[in-house]
Parts: sequence; structure tokens; C-alpha cells
Amino acid sequence: MNPKQLVGEKATEYVQDGMIVGLGTGSTAFWAIQKIGQLVKEGLKIQGVPTSKATEQLATELNIPLLDIANVRSIDVTIDGADEFDLQKQLIKGGGGALLREKIVASISKVFICIADASKSSEVLGSYPLPVEVTPFAYQVTAYQLEKLGCSPKLRMQENKPFVTDNQNYILDCKFDKIVNPAELTVKINKIPGVVENGLFTNIATRIICNTEDGGITIIE
Ligand code: A5P
Repeated sequence: MNPKQLVGEKATEYVQDGMIVGLGTGSTAFWAIQKIGQLVKEGLKIQGVPTSKATEQLATELNIPLLDIANVRSIDVTIDGADEFDLQKQLIKGGGGALLREKIVASISKVFICIADASKSSEVLGSYPLPVEVTPFAYQVTAYQLEKLGCSPKLRMQENKPFVTDNQNYILDCKFDKIVNPAELTVKINKIPGVVENGLFTNIATRIICNTEDGGITIIE
């Protein structure tokens, strides 16, 4: 079994009948959603809350019943990937551009399970450029303000045009050297006018289910 499938399927062991389940975005969450689709087919009764349009489409194809987040106030468990994590369960997310919806879903989740492979583990966050969702209006000014926090922001492009998120915003990928205090940095970033949200997830993950190099799984609680 491929490593992403292994951790994705393992995470679904925490999903039970009657739960509202946050459905993450990305190539690792894909496997958890596939498994949930199979379990639903076999009779599992859950309702999903997608974190992106892509996940909404995938879940719909798999006949997973979905809720509109506008009507949801609490989610039992969310399963989502990450681009980088440390042993304090702090994460960098947003490589796929879904960080805003992912963070809103995570913020009302009682349990947040992160699924990732060992290559994403870091002693100190900062290897992965931090995705920051910003308004298209004056994004150059926002980039300049972010730069003053000690990073080099780069406008994410797709097919020679700025990448546009599900919320019609842009992403600035901000390469920091080492993010020693992610909780502090998140406050500083989110104070900048023009920033919609950033990809640092601190005090959110309940556990990380991670691949090990020998083909096994380890769980960081
Ligand atoms: C989506 O915006 C991201 O936060 C993903 O969860 C993250 O990029 C992990 O994606 P992969 O599982 O594809 O590496």
C-alpha cells in the first residue's frame, strides 16, 4: 500500500457512525476520503464537511453526504494533510491553496487528525514556504509588509497567471528561515491588512498519523 494511503486509511479508524467529519484537501486526504466513501457504501452513517471545492467534488462522486458549513457549529473529527509538521504538532498547511477553508473547518473540530509522511517532519518549522492567503487588491503592499517580518514572499502562479483560491484570493508563499515561535508569527501575519489567513496551524492538531521510513506508522499524540 502506498504510504499516503496507509496513513489516510488509518485515520478513518477514528470515524464513527453519526459523526460530522471534516474532509481535508490534498493527495494524502484523498485516501482518507476514498476510504470513507467505501465505508459509507458499506453502511457507515456520517455527514462530511469539505475543505475545498476539489474535496467537495470528490466526496460527491463517492456519495458521501455533505453538510453546508454555514449550518455547522461543531465537527466531531477532521482528517487533513500537512506540508510540514513538528513534534509539538504545529503545522504548515496550504500547499494546495485550501488553507482558509481548512482552518475554518479545523477551528470548529473537536478532534483534528493530521496525516503526513515522515519527510514532512521538521525540528523547527520553516523548510516549507509558508502559504499566506491575501486579497488580490494591493497584494504587492501586503507582500512588502510580510517581507518586513523576515521572509521572502512569492506570488503563487499557475499557468502564467496568479493562482486563485476557492475564495477568489491570491497566495503569497513566504520563505522564512526558521519559524521559532509559530503562534507569535501567526498573530503578526494576521494583523497585516490584506492578509486573509496564513497556513500556520498551532494548537489545532490532536494527533499526527505519520509514515515511518520502514513502511510502518507512528502516531504523535
Ligand atoms: C491544502 O491546501 C494543504 O493544506 C494540504 O493539506 C497539504 O498541502 C498537504 O497536501 P498533500 O497531502 O498533497 O501533501
